[in-house]
Amino acid sequence: MITMKAITCLILAITYLKVNGLISNNVIDLTWPFNNKTISWGAGKKFEITKENFVDGPDGTWYGSREFALAEHSGTHLDAPYHFYKNGWKVDEIPLSRLIATCVKINLSEETEKFGHKARLLPKHLNDWEQRNGPVPPNSVILVYFNWGQYYHNESKYLGGENSTLYRFPALSPQAAQWIADSNKVVGVGLDTPGIDPGEGPPTKPVHTILAKNQIYALENVKIPPDFPEKGAQLLSMPMLLSGGTGAPVRIISDVSNK
Ligand SMILES: *[C@@H]1O[C@H](CO)[C@@H](O)[C@H](O)[C@H]1NC(C)=O
Ligand SMILES: *[C@@H]1O[C@H](CO)[C@@H](O)[C@H](O)[C@H]1NC(C)=O
Ligand SMILES: *[C@@H]1O[C@H](CO)[C@@H](O)[C@H](O)[C@H]1NC(C)=O
Ligand SMILES: *[C@@H]1O[C@H](CO)[C@@H](O)[C@H](O)[C@H]1NC(C)=O
Repeated sequence: MITMKAITCLILAITYLKVNGLISNNVIDLTWPFNNKTISWGAGKKFEITKENFVDGPDGTWYGSREFALAEHSGTHLDAPYHFYKNGWKVDEIPLSRLIATCVKINLSEETEKFGHKARLLPKHLNDWEQRNGPVPPNSVILVYFNWGQYYHNESKYLGGENSTLYRFPALSPQAAQWIADSNKVVGVGLDTPGIDPGEGPPTKPVHTILAKNQIYALENVKIPPDFPEKGAQLLSMPMLLSGGTGAPVRIISDVSNK
């Protein structure tokens, strides 16, 4: 027989776990799955299952294993500072404390509606966010929502062209990258497009370079839900612990309860 006391204990235990963030019904995934739709940059190795072995034994036993190959910079992935700065951290050198961050989300879907692939994060958008929410907190990831993920399943639209010289998509401006670097509070920048530098323009990558020189990592091809809160969410970004990596596939999750 369940007593009132037992029920009260149970409720208190659940409340304790919730308050301490140990369980939640509201953990969401900001990662695109890795499969044969996964986008790779330029001529980079597309995700491929290179070997499969499935044995469905007549006695009811089962064995399955697969091998795969992919470029470091494919799908939802992290760019290590070492990608564009020789003295930058490699994937396995980024301190773990920087991979658990407070999320500053900037909603630029209206810019994309107006300017299409020419939409850019500008310093004014960062200043507007601070006007509404107060200063960017320390140990933040700036997450820019362009609503570009709506095209993820149409690769040529999402990238803007068949090869990397033709790529066109929303990105950061170098001025915004400088603002972010100068803030000294940002550990990473993420967005729902293939890159933090726009596809067009000179082959130099000023946004990558500015951020890399400040040991700020990038998260590209992030699957950002339209209703993701603009402040207060925590992001947990776990790149594969790839020794010497210039980048790596990353699993990004967030607990959005109580937001
Ligand atoms: C992609 O993966 C799906 C699901 O596993 C499969 O049905 C399809 O044949 C694959 N396509 C190619 C081109 O490999
Ligand atoms: C993908 O996008 C291109 C460019 O907007 C468009 O021409 C094409 O019809 C789209 N393909 C699909 C399958 O929706
Ligand atoms: C990219 O595609 C365009 C149009 O098909 C072509 O003119 C150009 O030579 C290609 N560039 C590369 C590097 O393949
Ligand atoms: C993002 O901006 C668009 C356009 O201004 C607006 O319609 C939408 O509600 C905003 N999304 C969120 C989550 O605030």
